[in-house]
Amino acid sequence: MKTRQPKIVVYSPNQAKDYENMIRKQGYTNVFSASSPAEVKEIIADTEILLCWKFPLHLLSETDSIKWIQSLGAGVDDLVSSPHVSKQSQLTRIVDQFGVPIAEYVFSYFLHFNQRITAIQSAQKEKKWAPFEPELLSGKTIGIAGLGSIGGEMIRKARAFDMKIHGLSVSGKQAQFVDKHFHPDEWREFVKELDYLVLVLPFTENTYHVVNRDILLAMKPSAYLVNVGRGQVVAEDDLIDVLKSGHLRGAVLDVFEHEPLSEESPLWEMPNVYVTPHLSGISTPSRVGHFFLENLKRYINEEELAGIVDRNSGY
Ligand code: GLV
Repeated sequence: MKTRQPKIVVYSPNQAKDYENMIRKQGYTNVFSASSPAEVKEIIADTEILLCWKFPLHLLSETDSIKWIQSLGAGVDDLVSSPHVSKQSQLTRIVDQFGVPIAEYVFSYFLHFNQRITAIQSAQKEKKWAPFEPELLSGKTIGIAGLGSIGGEMIRKARAFDMKIHGLSVSGKQAQFVDKHFHPDEWREFVKELDYLVLVLPFTENTYHVVNRDILLAMKPSAYLVNVGRGQVVAEDDLIDVLKSGHLRGAVLDVFEHEPLSEESPLWEMPNVYVTPHLSGISTPSRVGHFFLENLKRYINEEELAGIVDRNSGY
């Protein structure tokens, strides 16, 4: 039995109960979970700690007891921009947990394109023996926008494939690990030589639509775009136009301006676009549960929490 039992509420549209059980297993008894706004209303009073993903933020006005909000994600744009999140609450995000899955997602598409796996499958169906020279990642240039821990893992993997690595970041963190580093006022120069542009950026007022028509057209027509950060970083309508015009070979999109992506979006049917449902760095109890539990220990011991959000920078 723990000496202190703060009231913990978990909110997640899909896995709230799993997180609750995981926390209870560690001896915490004052734990509740909700997966809909109606359920939140029933349990939110006197909550001290909120562990959440896509929480209905207006319901925060129903309580003033929350001392700490732990996001289940790396990106906290919704929490940072919400007037309902009190400045008095500590706000933390998940850090250092998504590099491996996101990097594997990204490189699987690169390899898929270069080995023309779709064409190979069609040829096999037709029993057609049609050799070709697969393209290589070796010697190609990857540009990684956002050099936090996810960008860092991408650098490691790109090195293993002998790629040239360009990086863009605000802070210059990890700049020593890339071959060329660019700042956010150098987007055009950054994208110009890339074969692959990978966006790992948070959504902040500085990144909104930063990848617009102008930047997309500054890329090589043979380049690919991959977005695993936030949909709002790319001006989606500009991207659709640019792809339709044949500039850019393709796009792999795991995030969108509005999620779930509307059935009306032309992106679903574009042959050179891969649409995935925001899964490249998905949060699950087995992936991020231990991060929360460690932080919970710190919270109870009144130690500094991991993943504290800088509300000014937005991440
Ligand atoms: C997912 O997008 C996350 O922010 O963790």
